[in-house]
Amino acid sequence: MRIALLGTGGVCHVLAPALLDLGHEVVVGTRSPRTTLDTNTAYAELAARLPALELRTFAEAVPGADLVVNAIDGPSCVAALTPLAEVLAGHVVMDVSSPMDWTVPDAVLDPVNTDSLGERLQRALPRARVVKTLNTVAARAMTAPEAIGDGDHTVFLSGDDDAAKAVVGDLLRALGWRDVLDLGGIRTSRATEMMLRMWIDAVTALGTSMIGFKIVR
Ligand SMILES: NC(=O)c1ccc[n+]([C@@H]2O[C@H](COP(=O)([O-])OP(=O)(O)OC[C@H]3O[C@@H](n4cnc5c(N)ncnc54)[C@H](OP(=O)(O)O)[C@@H]3O)[C@@H](O)[C@H]2O)c1
Repeated sequence: MRIALLGTGGVCHVLAPALLDLGHEVVVGTRSPRTTLDTNTAYAELAARLPALELRTFAEAVPGADLVVNAIDGPSCVAALTPLAEVLAGHVVMDVSSPMDWTVPDAVLDPVNTDSLGERLQRALPRARVVKTLNTVAARAMTAPEAIGDGDHTVFLSGDDDAAKAVVGDLLRALGWRDVLDLGGIRTSRATEMMLRMWIDAVTALGTSMIGFKIVR
């Protein structure tokens, strides 16, 4: 597949090499490629290590992509992607964002309880096919589920389009996930986004971010 990976942060650093290793083409999206290459040292190093990576603006990265990944800062992603509603029409958008503003002390979830970023994104991009997933683990675990409990933990899918969820589910299994649980419509993003509060407290208690959730049947 040709995958547009929108975002140049920690998720990009983990997903880009893993997706290339799986044989996909990866085009990374950023606000300004020039600024990113000049000022984001970590990304410049990644790009030097992975010459196959392309870097484009968010809007330029999308056309021709079989899958789009939203790995943009949570509080900014809806505003960043709303102008791309037409460009994203018909595209599967794998949304890994978290509704957490880490810049404030004891960060709070926003939106929460009666709404979610997954739903906001789907409302902002009415003709895109948004699938929320991977937001319940640290970036490092997204492509290495086996590094936690021998891989015996659960990743969740939320989305209104079953075919889009099938595309994302196949990709997750290719990344090593064995327990892929389809929770239902995009409304169920509320549940997995709210798990972040538990994730933070469990990570703090255990002193490691390499933890996962397991739904025991
Ligand atoms: N890191 C993790 O362990 C982890 C785990 C689960 C979920 N997530 C979620 O995954 C997403 C990506 O996380 P991350 O840690 O890789 O990166 P991040 O630091 O949360 O976000 C980096 C990306 O957001 C873009 N961005 C920041 N402010 C923006 C604005 N005002 N307008 C438009 N774009 C803006 C940046 O654009 P430029 O490229 O132009 O700088 C960059 O591409 C987030 O929503 C995060 O909550 C992260």
